[in-house]
Amino acid sequence: MNDLSSVMMEPGIVADQSRSLWALVTEHSTYALGVTKEGLVINLHWGPRLATLADLPDPCLALTHSSHDPALTSIAEEYPGFGGLRYGELAAQVVFADGVRDLDLCYERAELLPVKASLSGLTLYLRDRHYPLTLLLRYQLDLANDLIIRSAVWRNEGDEPIRLERAFSAAWHLPHSFASRTLTTLAGQWAGESQIQRRPLVAGTALIESRRGITSLNAAPWLAIESEPMPGQLAPEVYFASLAWSGNWMIRVNYDVTGKTTVVGGISEHDFAWQLAAGETFTTPDFVAGFADDGLNGARQRLHRYVRETVLPTSQALQPRPVLYNSWEATTFDVSEQGQIELAELAARLGVELFVVDDGWFMRRVSDTTGLGDWRPDPRKFPRGLGPLIERVHDLGMAFGLWVEPEMVNPDSELYRAHPDWAYAFPTRARSEARNQLVLNLGREDVRNYLFEALNRLLTEYSIAYLKWDMNRPISEPGWADYLAQGGEARELWVRHTHGVYALMDALRAHHPSLSIESCASGGGRADLAILRRTDQVWTSDNTHPEARLLIQEGFSLALPARVMGAWVTDAGRRQVPLAFRFHVAMLGALGVGGNLIHWSAEEMDEAASWIAIYKQIRHLVQDGEQSWLLSPHATHGQFAAVQYTSQARDQALVFFFWRDQVFGGSHPPLRLCHLKPNAVYRIEPLRALPTASPLQEYPAVLSGAALMATGLPPLLDNWQTHASYLVKLTEITVPPGGSVRTENKPRAESLPVVY
Ligand code: DGJ
Repeated sequence: MNDLSSVMMEPGIVADQSRSLWALVTEHSTYALGVTKEGLVINLHWGPRLATLADLPDPCLALTHSSHDPALTSIAEEYPGFGGLRYGELAAQVVFADGVRDLDLCYERAELLPVKASLSGLTLYLRDRHYPLTLLLRYQLDLANDLIIRSAVWRNEGDEPIRLERAFSAAWHLPHSFASRTLTTLAGQWAGESQIQRRPLVAGTALIESRRGITSLNAAPWLAIESEPMPGQLAPEVYFASLAWSGNWMIRVNYDVTGKTTVVGGISEHDFAWQLAAGETFTTPDFVAGFADDGLNGARQRLHRYVRETVLPTSQALQPRPVLYNSWEATTFDVSEQGQIELAELAARLGVELFVVDDGWFMRRVSDTTGLGDWRPDPRKFPRGLGPLIERVHDLGMAFGLWVEPEMVNPDSELYRAHPDWAYAFPTRARSEARNQLVLNLGREDVRNYLFEALNRLLTEYSIAYLKWDMNRPISEPGWADYLAQGGEARELWVRHTHGVYALMDALRAHHPSLSIESCASGGGRADLAILRRTDQVWTSDNTHPEARLLIQEGFSLALPARVMGAWVTDAGRRQVPLAFRFHVAMLGALGVGGNLIHWSAEEMDEAASWIAIYKQIRHLVQDGEQSWLLSPHATHGQFAAVQYTSQARDQALVFFFWRDQVFGGSHPPLRLCHLKPNAVYRIEPLRALPTASPLQEYPAVLSGAALMATGLPPLLDNWQTHASYLVKLTEITVPPGGSVRTENKPRAESLPVVY
């Protein structure tokens, strides 16, 4: 052991040059890597925080178990490429100009990057032993949130092109362990996004991916792996990861019979190739991963904080998300100046802050068969342009938002008639339409320029605070004849499309710094860490039925925070589900309203206005608090759900409770809360829209944090109600010496003893 080895490691990057290793230390975890004498970069530890460098083993090759299980396969390489005796999960595959397809990377040097905000970084330089190809492995550390953010940069230092056929972002190795492991992923479909899938890891590879050109409704680039607690261990340890990419992606989780667990992922290798010309670089997306010793809620909260603090556009990240009204479910394509003004007037009465006109406002858009691409107001619907509507919306005290779907074109449009070659196609194949539309090639500069001009004109001419950016079909027939003719690699287009979307959004934001953007792809089809660098919220799902929404929102919240989770109260479930329940579900995220207000009764309007007023008072807790799912609707088949939001200081909390039905009657157990200060005393106050509306049973008005966490909040709902829900607010109060508190709302008695 050398001197350095006994030094206690503080959060940050600790290097031991004599042993060629680095420890990436966060508040609660250590991620360590080192270089073997053969020049291989391997993982040495990932998991609970270690105390000193002496805790780490020397970096060396594993023993060869048999000629079929070579050391290069069993070793935990940080970035294994196709080459040599490697048969495990691979991060890369490369073809050199002479046709050699074997990659042989060797460590060259390391560079520590200065700490920026709460992030610090390490870059390792590797080089092929024969060819002029350099690979940078980049590590960033989010100290407070126990996250490692990895990416890779390929650099062709020679004169001949090199072809990348797989260029993932990272390989992650969980500790070799006896523990059984459960993989959680999010899968879905249109109107059924983010459904939680849990499966035990068994030997083999689990694969999640998108090949649709967008993040997709069908799978999210997020996963968690929980280790069953070993005897004597308290909470399950969770490793979790989320990929920052909005195009085709792939994540592979391999588990072998010895318990070795490897995750690799990045841009999908499906129909992917990238021609790295002499002197060029290719940078992969960030792959963010973390370790939580406090279960899935702990993993969720770390990602939420990361998104809020580091990912979201800074202009909006700290602002409260406005309560919005969206006209889509009320009017679909039947949009007119007068009709929208009527809705806007009603929305303003509710206290809505942002009025968004959805699809149907632009040239000849009377159905989904026409108009996409022609981004000008339809004079038949808006004879005076959008100006008078926007003015009225402003007069009513609301900001104005507009729906667009820039990547799309209807064959029945002026744009398509002028530029049929702008849509993806193979010359000898029919173009598959979906929702009567084709996808524009955003890899092309002329297409991006056209779209920038069209959208910039709208944003300049009109006072538009918010764009809802939709994307309603996947890419097909990915041909790009011009590029091919110029000697380009047409299979780059999946990546170039995604880069094109980012570039367009970035340019619009740069020209209109106060603009907000909502990311939508027929619902939550483009919700990921990369799109959230340039958008402010996500349309979670076209399914707005509250029962379905609880399941979808639980899954969504594993990966992304409440402030980006768009949730509207609509007319879905209006006949069966009380308005309070529908509001409570939507108040779990960025609240909006999407029902046809023209048909809402005066009572519904009053109650809705009251819920919106309540939401405005508590939204700082929802949007920026620590979110914990106390009862999982997924685990209870939609029967129950309970969500707690706690302020950073733990002096305030909200609890939402949902009970779908209870056909046998009977009560339910108390609801144990979390994250409170055990020795603090909390006032418990039900928040009701109408004083008489929610028949909560008598409740204890004051309880200690210890009691709320150890014995729980007693049942507050009547046994036989269906679709019952409540929202309570907890506020820390000062207890006078002697330990007795006088309650204001007197639910049971004049004064209650403090229960510890
Ligand atoms: C799909 C979106 O998810 C809906 O909210 C709506 O904007 C429609 N597209 C409009 O075509």
